[in-house]
Amino acid sequence: MHIAFFDSGLGGLSIVRELFEHPQAQGLGVTQCSYIADTAQFPYGDKDDAWLSDRIVQVIAASINAIKPDLVVVACNTASTLALGPLREHFAIPFVGVVPAIKPAAQQSQSHVVGILATPATVARDYTAQLIANYAQDTSVHLYGAAALVAQAENKLLGNAVDQHTITRALHALLALDATQTLDTVVLACTHFPLLREELTAAAPYPIQWVDSGEAIARRVMQLCEGAKAAPLSSVNTPLQLITTGGELAEHYERLRFKIGPQQGTYTFASHNVLAFSDSCK
Ligand code: DGL
Repeated sequence: MHIAFFDSGLGGLSIVRELFEHPQAQGLGVTQCSYIADTAQFPYGDKDDAWLSDRIVQVIAASINAIKPDLVVVACNTASTLALGPLREHFAIPFVGVVPAIKPAAQQSQSHVVGILATPATVARDYTAQLIANYAQDTSVHLYGAAALVAQAENKLLGNAVDQHTITRALHALLALDATQTLDTVVLACTHFPLLREELTAAAPYPIQWVDSGEAIARRVMQLCEGAKAAPLSSVNTPLQLITTGGELAEHYERLRFKIGPQQGTYTFASHNVLAFSDSCK
């Protein structure tokens, strides 16, 4: 089984990590993993919807052609809340989308006041509004588009300085939307944000529960892999190949060293395949 993870940048590694660290993933029949990053158009959170939807389909189409995965995890809320429909129409392989974890957050909140930190695009999506209408009827939900956190998460993974003030400002801007001051649960509705959990916790003026979709996605992927047999997931058995759309960011990714699981050591991408696109629409 070959699983491909897709994101604009490195945020999808928070989902890769959930799968690789999951205790039940060890017997999983995954022989190969690929990580697709649209580095030439990173970030996605401020792009026009119609253009972005076409772009995502194009990049995933080219990736499917190049690497023939059995399953694609759209490890990006901004992409999933927009393009899951078109992707499923275009391709026969299964897609697992990552969308804001609004249902578990509404269930876990004691105060029934929940915050959502996402990209401005995810905050504005009908898909997000629909999740709130379906699963958080008895909950006050406050949304904040925190584009600046995406860059901070990239900085952290790439070993650059992280600006704690930017993180504190974003969290406090979300908390300020709640006049009752009882918000107790925050959905990390961008795959980059779980990578900043320690910094967000340090920025919180009181204890907050952070909720994301990572574990649920890992479980869904494991269900879809059932029946496939191979060696356990590990840095030795499961090379992670990198697919990018090029540019300076892609060169930084090539040199990246990162930890995925507690027992699985440090990863580097095993190979790098650059897909070329014309960047005419912005
Ligand atoms: N990681 C992405 C998400 O889950 C998007 C970040 C961006 O490109 O703005 O929404």
